[in-house]
This record gives sequence, C-alpha cells and structure tokens, in this order.
Amino acid sequence: MITLTTTADLRRQVRRWRMDGERIALVPTMGKLHQGHLTLVREARKRADRVIVTIFVNPLQFGEGEDFESYPRTLQQDAAALSGEGADLLFAPAVTEVYSRPRELQTRVEVPGISDILCGAFRTGHFVGVATVVCKLFNMVQADLALFGAKDYQQLLVIRHMADDLCIPVEIIGVPTVREKDGLAMSSRNGYLTAQERKQAPELHRVMQNTAAAIESGSHEYAKLENDAKQVLEKAGFRPDYYVIRKAEDLSRPEQGEQNLVILAAAYLGKARLIDNLKPGFVVR
Ligand code: PAJ
Repeated sequence: MITLTTTADLRRQVRRWRMDGERIALVPTMGKLHQGHLTLVREARKRADRVIVTIFVNPLQFGEGEDFESYPRTLQQDAAALSGEGADLLFAPAVTEVYSRPRELQTRVEVPGISDILCGAFRTGHFVGVATVVCKLFNMVQADLALFGAKDYQQLLVIRHMADDLCIPVEIIGVPTVREKDGLAMSSRNGYLTAQERKQAPELHRVMQNTAAAIESGSHEYAKLENDAKQVLEKAGFRPDYYVIRKAEDLSRPEQGEQNLVILAAAYLGKARLIDNLKPGFVVR
C-alpha cells in the first residue's frame, strides 16, 4: 500500500491508474478505523480495481467545544489495518494541505434543507464542513465510486444531494451499519464510553428495534412512539438530542401509513454522543 500526503502526489498516482483503464473507489474516513470502516474497504475492493482510503480529521466539520483536538488519531495502526485489507493507497494529508486559506476565506459547500435538521440543528455548520471536505476529496481523487456508511444516514443523504446538485461524476454507494455483537453501532467515538456506559450503550439500538417492531405491527402514532422511546432512553441514563421517525427518502415528517421510514436518534451517554438509525421492515397491509 502506498501512503501519500500531498494532493500533487495523489493526482500523479491516480492518473497512472486511470491511464491503465482501472476503476477507482474512494473511502473517506477520519481514522481510528474499526470493522465498520474496513467493511467499506472490502466492499470497495469488490467493486473497483483500486481502492483509495483517506484519513483526515476535518476541522471544518467540528463545532466550537467539540472534540476536534481530542479526536483519536491512530495513523500507524490504521495504515496496518488498511494494508491488511488490501487497500492500494492511503491519503493522509495535513490540515494545511487541504485548507490552504484561513478558515473564514475557505469556499464552502452548502446543501440546504437536509443539513439544517436533526444532527445539523444540534451541530451548526457540521454538514457544511462535511459537504465541503467530501467535495474537495471528490475533486482531488476523481474516483469512479465512493462508499459511505448508512450508520451516518443524514450524512449519506447530504453527500448524495451534493454530488447530484454539483454534477460530480461519482457513484455514491451506501453500506449497511456494522454493529458490535450486542447491537451497538461501531463508531470511532465509542472509545469515549466508560466500561459502565459501554454496557448501557446497546440500549439505544434495542429501543430503536422496539420502535421498529411497533411500526411493523401497524402503529402509526409516530409522535407517541418517539416520546415513549425518548423517555425509556432518559431513564436508562441517555441524554437524547433527538429521536424521530422520518421518511427515509428525505428525512421529512411522514404521513400516516408511509412505508419507507427510518428511525433516527442521537443521544449522549456520558461524554460520548452516539448516533444510530434503523429502517423498519416494509409491511404490506
Ligand atoms: P468517519 O466517522 O471516520 O466515518 C467514515 C465512513 O465510515 C463514513 O462513511 C461512515 O458512515 C462509515 N462508518 C462509520 N461507522 C460505521 C459503521 N458502524 N458501519 C458502517 N459504516 C460506518 O463520517 C466521517 O468519518 C466523516 O464525516 C467524513 C465522511 C470522512 C468526512 O470528513
């Protein structure tokens, strides 16, 4: 596996592969890689000749008082794991390589509507930071396809919307959430949980499964289901930012009887902010 840190070197390598007619996949990450990330890499290998993984802790998507400084940085272990998975290239640029201008002068990519709700409402500017860096990575790499986890469901929709609006010729592939055995969605931030909190954490997924089961058995009382779930989580020691049932297509509020739904939640447990989502099974009635 080749490791590069400059855009010029990256472009040179990509050009060579392109000249050989190879299909290139991109997997953007912030590092501290776990099986969720590595599943994206494995999926990428199935679909492309070359797999490029980026590790970049993107300051633009962290708000004031968030964990940019303390975000786990484990480049050596990550590189070893990627090499083991057969990734072809690791791109790990410094902040100054990606952002050459002062932050306030940086061109930004804004995806209206979808960026302002749910996580976007609680983390102002977060999705502008995500869309901007992903747009830059798309332009740097010019991959044929890019893979993202459904674990960050809202992020996946923001990126699809952005690539579509800006006519970026990349196919966006969503990959199902990878979970620990007890149901907790894998996340680089799970390391913030204490041993006690770690035991409690799968309750988030369990509560979402209960909501999904209620919807599957015909309940349309979405507001009640949301409130009940929030109360259960609060009793279990979570501090929910939101717990909602939305249309899977665009995260707008569902009409009664809507079939394509997704349950989304973000909740603090201690200092870890956990996010998760679950689609109830399609039921014909
Ligand atoms: P990061 O949190 O490192 O995640 C990188 C990719 O891995 C994202 O597409 C995310 O959805 C996916 N992922 C994380 N946990 C997963 C899990 N348990 N199962 C499946 N996929 C999972 O998301 C980001 O970084 C950043 O916002 C980024 C897109 C790289 C832009 O900076």
